[in-house]
Amino acid sequence: MTQVASPLRKRASSKMKRRMTHSITVPGDGPNVPQLSRRIPVPDVPVWPILSAAAFLEERTSSMPSVLSAGHSVYVTAGRIAIGLALRLAGVAPGDKVLLPAYHCASMVDPLSCVSASPVFYRLNEDLSVDLEDIARKVDASTHVLIAVNYFGFPQDLETLRKFCDDHHLVLIEDCAHSFFGEFAGRPLGSYGDYAIASLTKFFPVKEGGCLISADPEARKLLRRARGPIAGLRQGFSAIEDAVYHDRLATLRPLVQAIQQARRLRPRPKSSPKSQGVDGPADMRSGVSEDFDPRWLEVKASGISMWISRNVSTGRIARRRRDFFGRMLAHFTAHRGCRPLITELPEGVVPYMFPLWVDDLSTVFPVLEDRAAPMQRFGQFLWPGVDENLCRTSVGFSKHLIQLPCHQDLREDELDWVLETVSSVIASSRRRGRPPARA
Ligand SMILES: Cc1ncc(COP(=O)(O)O)c(C=O)c1O
Repeated sequence: MTQVASPLRKRASSKMKRRMTHSITVPGDGPNVPQLSRRIPVPDVPVWPILSAAAFLEERTSSMPSVLSAGHSVYVTAGRIAIGLALRLAGVAPGDKVLLPAYHCASMVDPLSCVSASPVFYRLNEDLSVDLEDIARKVDASTHVLIAVNYFGFPQDLETLRKFCDDHHLVLIEDCAHSFFGEFAGRPLGSYGDYAIASLTKFFPVKEGGCLISADPEARKLLRRARGPIAGLRQGFSAIEDAVYHDRLATLRPLVQAIQQARRLRPRPKSSPKSQGVDGPADMRSGVSEDFDPRWLEVKASGISMWISRNVSTGRIARRRRDFFGRMLAHFTAHRGCRPLITELPEGVVPYMFPLWVDDLSTVFPVLEDRAAPMQRFGQFLWPGVDENLCRTSVGFSKHLIQLPCHQDLREDELDWVLETVSSVIASSRRRGRPPARA
C-alpha cells in the first residue's frame, strides 16, 4: 500500500480548526440508547458526499436509473418526513400496525407517530433479506403497511415482496434511503413499492432533503410551505463550509473564514452543545431535528438542495461508488477480525456505504472514533423490545456492523487512509486480545 498522509498533516494543510463532536456511544456495557458521551474529533475524511467542481463536471449522465424514474416525486426536508407522508397517503389510521424490519434506525420508526400507528418488527435473514415467513405470521386485520429497505443500496427480492404484499393486501413502502440509484429485474428501485422514499444527504452534497415517490401526481399538493431564502442560504453555506473543512473549494476558504468569524462575534441566544463550539451528533444533519416533528410534513426542501441534487453528475456517482466499494471488498476479504457483510457487487447496484462486520467492535469502535475514522453505525440502537428473541441476526448487526464511506467524493488518498487506519486498529485489537503465549 502507498504511504498514507496522516489526518493531522492534512488538517494542518487545510488551515481550518479541527471540529470536535460528541460520541453518542457509551463505551463498554453502557445503556443501549444514544447518549452524548466523550468528545471525539470530526473526521477529516468526509463521511458524506461533499461539494466540489468535479461533482458537476465529470460524467454528467448515467445509464443507471434512479428512484425519480419510478413515479411522481415530491421533495421534502428528509427521508423520515417522506415516510410520514407515505403513511398519511396510505390512509394509515390510529392504532393500525406497520411492519418494520428489526434492523432499523429511529428515524424510520419516529414517523409512525404522525398517524398514531404501532410498529411491528419483523425478522431479517443473514443476507439482509426480509423473512417472509415471519411477516406472514405477524400480519393481522389491523396490519396495513410493510416497510422494506434496500439496505446499503442492495435490492431486496422486490418481485416476491410485491406479490406477497398484493396477496396480503398490504401497502408496500420501499425504503430507498440507501438506494437512490439502481434497478432490480429491469425496473428502477422504488418502482415496486406503492410508495418509495429516498434520502438526499446520503447521495448528494446537500445538507437536507428527502423524496417521496408515488403514482399520485396530486401528492405535491400536500406541501403547502416552502423554505424561505434565508434557510436556503444557510443550507448552501453549510455545504460550502463542509467542503472547505474537508479541503475542497480552497478558493472559497477566505470567504468562509470571514463569515465564521462574523458569526462568532454575534451574540448567542442560549447555551447548547452547538453554541459551545461543538457539533451535534452526525445524524442531526438534516432540516429536521433527531426527533420527528410533524410540522415538517408540509414543507418543501430548500431550492438549493433540490438544485444541487438535480444537477450533480450522476454517472460519476454510480461509477465511483462501485469502484470504491470494489476496492474495499478486495481489501477486507480475508482480513482477520472482520469480514465484509456483502461479498458481491452485482450489476445494477450503486452502493450507499460499505458494511463491515467487526468481531470485537465494542473495543474497536471507540478507538476508531478517537482516530477520526469516517463511519456510520446504522441500527446501533434498536427500538425497545427488539431483542435476540425477536431477531438474533439484527441484534448481531447492531453490535458488530459499521459502515465505511464509499461515496463519489472520496479522494484516492482518503480511501487509502481509511483502509489502512481501519485495518491497523482491528489488527492491534486482535493482538491485544490474544491470550499471552505460555512460558
Ligand atoms: C433505511 C433508512 N430509512 C430512512 C432514513 C431516514 O432518512 P433521513 O435521514 O433523510 O431522514 C434513514 C436514515 O438514516 C435510513 O437509513
